[in-house]
Amino acid sequence: MKTRQGTVAVELTVNGEKRVAAAEPRMLLTDFLRHGLGLTGTHVGCEQGVCGACTVLVDGQPARACLTFAVQVEGGCVDTVEGMAEPGALSDVQQAFRAEHGLQCGFCTPGMLASTEALLQENPDPTDDEIREYLSGNVCRCTGYQGIIAAVRRVANERKAASRDA
Ligand code: FES
Ligand code: FES
Repeated sequence: MKTRQGTVAVELTVNGEKRVAAAEPRMLLTDFLRHGLGLTGTHVGCEQGVCGACTVLVDGQPARACLTFAVQVEGGCVDTVEGMAEPGALSDVQQAFRAEHGLQCGFCTPGMLASTEALLQENPDPTDDEIREYLSGNVCRCTGYQGIIAAVRRVANERKAASRDA
């Protein structure tokens, strides 16, 4: 792909689709997703790896997009909040956050959802302490966290019940 001087073509699979855009080697994954690809669901808070708002899944693992250069994930898979459900629908995790009042302003929510997906992949039936520990890198200024813990608990229970009935 022809690129502007000083940029390289970065090709990624984002939410299951091949995407390619030009990026300077120093471009952060947050900027690549938001400005390069128009996926503004990934939020930028502290920009120094502390708040977790920018968390996305890179090859299935939670990653701070504000501490990752886009070129570092060339050829990899990135999953963002936009890919969690079909347009106009909500994933089970999103529904649980809504049902349990796990969000108010929603700024932290995309990162919380990505971390929750990763947690439940790793540990489908976490205790409340394990949920707290896993989500400790995601800061929320609004909710007091109780609704978030309850939401994760709800999804874990729903998935457990669904696999029992299957
Ligand atoms: S914006 Fe990346 S951790 Fe805060
Ligand atoms: S809902 Fe506002 S920061 Fe979490």
